[in-house]
Amino acid sequence: MINKKIYIINGSPRKQWNTAQMCESFANGVKSKGIDTEIIHLYDIDFKGCRSCFACKLKDGKNFGRCAYPDELTSLLEKISKADGVVLASPIYCGDVTGIMRCFIERLTFPFFEYKQGYPSIAPKKLKTAMIYTMNITEELANKMYPDMFNRTEFMIETVFSKPVRIFAYDTYQFSDYDKYVVETFDKNEKLKHKEEQFPKDLQKAFDEGAKMAEEI
Ligand SMILES: Cc1cc2nc3c(=O)[nH]c(=O)nc-3n(C[C@H](O)[C@H](O)[C@H](O)COP(=O)(O)O)c2cc1C
Repeated sequence: MINKKIYIINGSPRKQWNTAQMCESFANGVKSKGIDTEIIHLYDIDFKGCRSCFACKLKDGKNFGRCAYPDELTSLLEKISKADGVVLASPIYCGDVTGIMRCFIERLTFPFFEYKQGYPSIAPKKLKTAMIYTMNITEELANKMYPDMFNRTEFMIETVFSKPVRIFAYDTYQFSDYDKYVVETFDKNEKLKHKEEQFPKDLQKAFDEGAKMAEEI
């Protein structure tokens, strides 16, 4: 194994479902090129978003430029900042990435965003980045509704690391048995068809992007 690493962050509470499978596929693509990778499930980690302590911006502070808030996320942030790539994967909840993913983005990026002219990045490494988004709505609807959200979500990632590659799974299958739930707005057969015909292609795209990132780092 070459001594490089890509972290994949799953912002979904479900460890076997759409987002997690996209993470697995990306990881398999990375591994296919002999590069080390690890999937982290954010819901397993006890942490909150930025506390606004500003230790990361304190003049001559021992934690300048890093998030040293003492909780379960801190050691992971340190490891990611020294890695070669980071992938953020999230379902869309109420028109945005999950709350826990937003908390993670605050903690990961804000310490590297220096309050100087032009807001230079002081990240130790310009990591390669990718975003994986999974959502219930169709590609057509997402293209109308979410472009601003994607740009806003990625602004800090791009500013401190690099412009992320985007990988999508639209129109995802949400329930193991649609008959058990009150669902009148989607057709279960259409959902199943999409899952069987399109989702494998989405997984392949994640695999290909994983292999590509591994080659580029
Ligand atoms: C609380 C909640 C809110 C959701 N809001 C949206 C939404 O605003 N737009 C959308 O397209 N899908 C929405 N979804 C559907 C999920 O984004 C979609 O099913 C996703 O692929 C689930 O990922 P998972 O299978 O990894 O859990 C929502 C799901 C939940 C549980």
